[in-house]
Amino acid sequence: MMKVIVRENDIQGGAAAFEIFEKGIKNGAKVLGLATGSTPVTLYQNWVKSDLNCDDLTSINLDEYVGLKPDDPQSYHYFMKEHLFNKKPFKHSYVPDGVEAAKDPQKAADDYNKIIKDNPIDIQLLGIGRNGHIAFNEPGSSFDTVTREVKLTENTIKANSRFFNNIDDVPTSAICMGIANIMSAKKIVLMAFGEKKAHAIKEMIEGPITEEVPASILQKHPDVTVIVDEAAAKELD
Ligand code: F6R
Repeated sequence: MMKVIVRENDIQGGAAAFEIFEKGIKNGAKVLGLATGSTPVTLYQNWVKSDLNCDDLTSINLDEYVGLKPDDPQSYHYFMKEHLFNKKPFKHSYVPDGVEAAKDPQKAADDYNKIIKDNPIDIQLLGIGRNGHIAFNEPGSSFDTVTREVKLTENTIKANSRFFNNIDDVPTSAICMGIANIMSAKKIVLMAFGEKKAHAIKEMIEGPITEEVPASILQKHPDVTVIVDEAAAKELD
C-alpha cells in the first residue's frame, strides 16, 4: 500500500520525512537504507539539528560512482559525511566501494549484497529520477536485480553533471543496490520535490507496474510512504 503525504515545499517535506525516521528509530529500527542527491537534503538538515542519537544505528547507502575515492568531493561517501555522518556518527555506515568496484566490480557487488543480507534494512529512503529510476536502476532494469555495476544513461549523466565542473568528469557507471535489495526493506520512504518529478510520481503511483518505470514496483511493497511537495503531486488524480 502506498501512502502519499503532500507538503507545500521541500522544507516541510524534509520535516515530514524526519518524523517518520525518528518514530521508526524510537520503535526499534536499527538499519537504515540511505540515499544521496538533492532530494534528501532537507531531511538530513532536520536530522543533524535533532537530538536523535545514532550511535546504535547502521546505515547502508544505495550507490556510489565507480572510480571515485571516498574523499572525492563528488563521491557519495563524501556527500553522506558532509550532510549527516560528520554530525551524527552511526555505529556502522556502509557505502558501496567505488575504488574496489573499479578493480573488481563483481567482488565489490558480492560484498555489498552480503552486508545487506547480514543487516536487513528496516527503513529504506529513496529519491526518484525523472525517468522513474530508483538508485541507479534505470528503465529496463529487471525487478530481480541485486547490487551490481550499472552503466549510467546519457540522461542521468546529464542530470548529475550539475554537481561536477565538467560533464566529462561525471563517471559513466555506478555500483548500485538492485531493485530486489530495495524491495527487501521492511518499510520504504520515497521523497520527490519539484515539477520535474511530477510525471515520474504519477507513473509510479497510478501507472502500470513495468520495468520501464522501475519505481512502479513499489506498488507491490506492503509499506511505502511517498512524500511529495505540491509541484511533484501535480499530475496525481
Ligand atoms: C541517490 C540515488 C538517485 C536519486 C535520483 C534523484 O542515492 O540513488 O536515484 O535519488 O537520481 O536525484 P535528485 O534527488 O538529485 O533529484
